[in-house]
Amino acid sequence: PVRVLSGIQASGALHLGNYLGALKRFAAVQDQKPFIFVADMHAITVWQDPKVLAAQTREIAAAYLASGLDPAKATIFPQSAVPAHAELAWIFNCVARLGWLDRMTQFKEKSGKHKERSSVGLYTYPVLQAADILLYKATHVPVGEDQKQHLELTRDIAQKFNNDYDAPGFFPLTEPVIEGPATRVMSLRDGSAKMSKSDPSDQSRINLLDDADAIASKIRKSRTDPEPLPETEEGLQGRAEASNLVAIYAALADISKADVIAQFGGQGFGAFKPALAELAVEKMAPITAEMRRLMNDPAEVDRVLKAGAERAREIGDQTVAEVKKLVGFLPL
Ligand code: TYM
Repeated sequence: PVRVLSGIQASGALHLGNYLGALKRFAAVQDQKPFIFVADMHAITVWQDPKVLAAQTREIAAAYLASGLDPAKATIFPQSAVPAHAELAWIFNCVARLGWLDRMTQFKEKSGKHKERSSVGLYTYPVLQAADILLYKATHVPVGEDQKQHLELTRDIAQKFNNDYDAPGFFPLTEPVIEGPATRVMSLRDGSAKMSKSDPSDQSRINLLDDADAIASKIRKSRTDPEPLPETEEGLQGRAEASNLVAIYAALADISKADVIAQFGGQGFGAFKPALAELAVEKMAPITAEMRRLMNDPAEVDRVLKAGAERAREIGDQTVAEVKKLVGFLPL
């Protein structure tokens, strides 16, 4: 059976990379009844002010709904409301090997020069992610390219668990689904850096809560080379900034990069940027408006999260009961 699952961390402003690489793609597969959660437990691997964490959790949920996820189809919930995530994560901490985690590039990036002062949670973050996924025996996880390594670790954990506990096929070997023109949206200021919430320059990203003027101005001022757009898609090679804007256009318009080139090839950025800005505003403004409305109605968001958590708990508890039996914990 196919089970689709994904999540987004509850750690501050969402941007266009999150939208095109994740949110938009969740809504596109919702007829498969995906499990889509807010990773609030992952968020606290770095310090989060308790006064803002709840608001950030609701903000992600509002973004799910505003980008078109229907709670009658998708199960939407906060990770922390399903204790089975933490229970399975502990068992996986005892399955995963230190050597596997030592290879995780995200920990190296996030811990920086101060490895010894990072939380233990930041180090074991990908193990919790594997628990998120395997708790629901997810077979497909739509994510951006930056999550590829975490999905590989998830498969390693599933395989070792199945093997160690003599339970062939118990956990599936989950496939990452990294598809479409915008699985790695780059900074608007630097075509070699990923668009990211941690970039100190707000000009580098389009935030989901930016208004139309901000969106248009950021696109107008985005960095590009002086050449017109190439006549063929191959001509984008070695032109990171141009390639990024074409990818963003393609993803927003639901067409391929080749289609964008067919339409705009040979034209300069003086023509392409305004077209992109117009498209971005047209697509993002309704989402922003709906997100703002929902953020002013926390009761509506909480109702969705509560109903989702109940559904998720049923499955999560079931898996954990099976796992406990395999591991040899007393069934009291
Ligand atoms: P997070 O919260 O950093 O990002 C959420 C999603 O957005 C994608 N993304 C991007 N896609 C394209 N271009 C970009 N510049 C860009 N930046 C971010 C990410 O790839 C991701 O799909 N560890 C995860 C959250 C998580 C999770 C899970 C995901 C926790 N448990 C289980 C899937 C399954 C994370 O931090 O994503």
